Amino acid sequence: MYRQSFLALIASLVGLCIAATPAEWRSRSIYFLLTDRFARTDNSTTASCDTSAREYCGGSWQGIINQLDYIQGMGFTAIWITPVTEQLQGDTGDGTAYHGYWQQKVYSVNSNYGTADDLKALATALHDRGMYLMIDVVANHMGYAGSGDSVDYSIFEPFNNQEYFHPYCEISNYNNQTDVEDCWLGDTTVSLPDLNTTRSDVQDLWYSWIGSLVSNYSADGIRIDTVKHVQQDFWPGYNDAAGVYAVGEVFDGDPSYTCPYQNYLDGLLNYPIYYPLLGAFESTSGSISDLYNMINTVKSECADSTLLGTFVENHDNPRFASYTSDYALAKNAIAFTILSDGIPIIYAGQEQHYSGGSDPANREATWLSGYDTSSELYTFIAVSNAIRNHAINADDGYVTYKNYPIYQDDTTIAMRKGSNGTQVVTVLSNLGESGSSYTLSLSGTDYNAGQELTEVYTCTSVTVDESGNVPVAMASGLPRVFYPTESLSGSGLCQ
Ligand code: NOJ
Repeated sequence: MYRQSFLALIASLVGLCIAATPAEWRSRSIYFLLTDRFARTDNSTTASCDTSAREYCGGSWQGIINQLDYIQGMGFTAIWITPVTEQLQGDTGDGTAYHGYWQQKVYSVNSNYGTADDLKALATALHDRGMYLMIDVVANHMGYAGSGDSVDYSIFEPFNNQEYFHPYCEISNYNNQTDVEDCWLGDTTVSLPDLNTTRSDVQDLWYSWIGSLVSNYSADGIRIDTVKHVQQDFWPGYNDAAGVYAVGEVFDGDPSYTCPYQNYLDGLLNYPIYYPLLGAFESTSGSISDLYNMINTVKSECADSTLLGTFVENHDNPRFASYTSDYALAKNAIAFTILSDGIPIIYAGQEQHYSGGSDPANREATWLSGYDTSSELYTFIAVSNAIRNHAINADDGYVTYKNYPIYQDDTTIAMRKGSNGTQVVTVLSNLGESGSSYTLSLSGTDYNAGQELTEVYTCTSVTVDESGNVPVAMASGLPRVFYPTESLSGSGLCQ
C-alpha cells in the first residue's frame, strides 16, 4: 500500500503514468476518435474533409491536445486513438491509410499525425488532467497496396520476409475459424498480409513491441484490432506484455462466439450488446425485450461484463443518426451506453448528432461542427458522464455491481446499477420525440419508501411511495435517471 502510493506520487511528480489496470479502467469513460478526423494543429474548423475520398484530412496529435477541454467538458476520463504506426503511403484505389489500420513499419509513427514527441506530449497532456490514453494496435496484419500474391515483404519492419506470414488466401468462409485466422483480410487493391502468429519468433517480436510501445508513449491501455483473426492462445502473452488493460475487438454479435475471448484478454468491445441496443432504439418499433435479455446473457456468458467496452457507434458501423434523426432515441441509446455495465465509449461526432452511414461516410471531421459545447447531445453526454462519475466516487462498488434490468414493457426498459442506497436507476423508452406522457409506477429499485430522489436530466424531485415504487414521469420519449437527492451533492448536478 505504502509502496503503491509512493510510486503514484513519484509518477505524478515526473508527469508519468503508472500503467493502468483493468480495475482502474472500469471507472473510466472513453471518447474514441480517429486521429486524422478529430482536430488539426491549426485549430481549423473549416478545413474541408470529404469522407468519400478516403484521404488524410489533417488531424493530428497536437490537434487533440488543443481540444482536450472539449473532450473533458463532456466528463470523459480517457481517450482511445486510432493506430499510431507508420502506414503504407499514397493513394491505393481504396484510398489512403488515414485510419491507421494498414501498417508497414511498426517502430516508427505515422508522420501525418505529428512526431513521436507530439504523441508523448499528448500522453503528458492527458495525464496532467488525470485522463488516460488508450492506443489502438494491430497484430493480425500489415498493409500492402496490391494483391496478396504480389507482396514485396522486404519493405516491412520487422517481418521483412514471407516466412513470417500465412500463405496468401482470402477469407472465403467466415464460419470456418481456420479460414478466419489463417487467411487474409483486405482485397486485391489493398491486401492485409496475415502474420503467422503461431510462430514463436512472431510472438516474441510482437510481445516485445507492445511492451515498448506502451512504455515509450506512456499508454494507459490498448484497444486491439481484429482479435478474432488471431488464434486465442496468442492473446494472453500479448496482454501480459502490454502490462495494461486491453480491450479487444471481436466483431461478432453472438455472445457464445465473442464472450469466450474474454478468457484470453481483459476486456472486449461489447458487440453482443451493440446489436440489440441499436435495435431497441433505432426506431420506435425496436425490440426492448431483445435488449433486456441480452443484458442478462452477457452477464452470464462473458467472464466479466464490467470490463467490456459499451458503445452504439464506431468507425466501422453506420452512425446512430443515420438510422433515425430522432433526438430522444439518440439520448436513450447514449444513456444506456454510459449507465449500463462496462466502460462507456462515445465515438467523436456522436455528441454532434453526426449521421454518416457506412464507412467511409461515418468518419466525418469533428472540427466541422465547430466543437459546439452547447449542442443538445454534448450537454446530454456531460450530464450522463457526471452522474456516472459521481456514482463511482460515492460507491466503490458501483462499477463492479452488475447492471440489473428490473422492468420491461413494449417500449420501456428500466435498470438498476449500484446498491446501498446510492444505486442509479435508469428508465429508457423508444417512443421517440413524439411519445406521449405517462407515469410509470416502478418497483424493484431498492429505494426506500419515502426516500427523496432526483431525476438528473430534468432536475425534478420525486418521492418513493409507501409501497416502495418510484413514480416515473415519462414524456416525449426521453430517458430518466434517478439518484438519491441527499447523495447528489458534489456532483455538480441539479444544485
Ligand atoms: C477493424 C477496424 O476497426 C477497422 O476500421 C479496420 O479497417 C479493420 N479492423 C482492419 O484492421
